[in-house]
Amino acid sequence: MTATLVTGIGQLVTNDPGAGRAPPLGIVEGAAVVVEDGRVAWVGAAAHAPGADRRLELEGRAVVPGFVDSHTHLVFAGDRAAEFEARCGGGTYDGGGVASTVAATRAATDSGLLALLASRVAELRAQGTTTVEIKSGYGLGVAEEARLLRLARAWTSETTYLGAHVVPAGVAREEYVRLAYGEMLAACAGYARWADVFCEPASPHAFNGDEARAVLVAARAAGLGLRVHANQLSAGPGVRLAVELGAASADHCTHLSGADVDALAGTGGSTVATLLPGAEFCTRSPFADARRLLDAGVVVALATDCNPGTCYTSSMPFVIALAVRELGMTPAEALWAATAGGAQALRREDIGRLAVGAAADMAVIDGPSYVHLAYRPGAQISRALDLAAAAAA
Ligand code: NIG
Ligand code: FE
Repeated sequence: MTATLVTGIGQLVTNDPGAGRAPPLGIVEGAAVVVEDGRVAWVGAAAHAPGADRRLELEGRAVVPGFVDSHTHLVFAGDRAAEFEARCGGGTYDGGGVASTVAATRAATDSGLLALLASRVAELRAQGTTTVEIKSGYGLGVAEEARLLRLARAWTSETTYLGAHVVPAGVAREEYVRLAYGEMLAACAGYARWADVFCEPASPHAFNGDEARAVLVAARAAGLGLRVHANQLSAGPGVRLAVELGAASADHCTHLSGADVDALAGTGGSTVATLLPGAEFCTRSPFADARRLLDAGVVVALATDCNPGTCYTSSMPFVIALAVRELGMTPAEALWAATAGGAQALRREDIGRLAVGAAADMAVIDGPSYVHLAYRPGAQISRALDLAAAAAA
């Protein structure tokens, strides 16, 4: 087994409160990490680092846990630039445009979709993301949804069945809901870890609370964990449904009542509020109020929501910058939410932190501190550390 010493780290964020200063970030200055077999074998001050077979010098750069992007819709073909441009002239998002992505995706070959996935995952990694969740939702048929999940599986174990994304054209609503909790779920469950529903009574295309409940309850019975697109366009029933059914995450959380906030806080972090400010940015919608959630004791995650309709960005640093500028988060809160928060939203303990035994997933920042993620918006500032490539160089 080869051990690699990653050293010369000007500032290391571990997300291990016992490992350093500024909890919960656990910051170590002048740090080093030893990696063995893809896992963290040692973390601490570089001056005390043990020997290793190889050495990688980072020349004072900051290192943070790799970003955990816990909400994306990466399996799609085509784009919706025309819809985006039209919306920039006025108009609101209601999910109706999903139909055009469904048509383009159904028409794409497996190899075409895999190539698109490969380039999107590479784009994420190039900015520091090391774990990505990928949803289906642009197939909207039994074989099509299963196909998208099978393809997504090639890239991540965090796959999510989103058959109940919108009601496709030409299918009666009740018939489609039955399919989503029946035959389609059965065809998809073997390829998915999670199930999600776009619960949004304010959209004529998405699902109301009762419809969402039927799909989520069946998915839970089929052994899938739950996540919910909740309260994106209106203060609907999604968040409370997510909490009631024990979902790992309620995503968007843009329009919240006091009862929604209390319900999330009452889970003690077992249902995370995953905020997706890129979607509000790209649709010119009001932003979620992270400050209100954090002050109420809700655990918050940040993710990109990368999709062709509401948010075609793959950049977690951009999301962090937005969260600091627009959601009322501090740079430290935003970084934690984009790493440990995402891990909690995926119920993973092996990622989102750099402690002995955890995955050696690291993002390197071209700057002296994690604050540069928010301080330098739009700059290409971080990348996933690729130890194999570094060794070959
Ligand atoms: O998270 N709101 C539902 N789903 C996506 C958008 C999907 C699309 O418009 O293609 C979202 O915003
Ligand atoms: Fe989404």
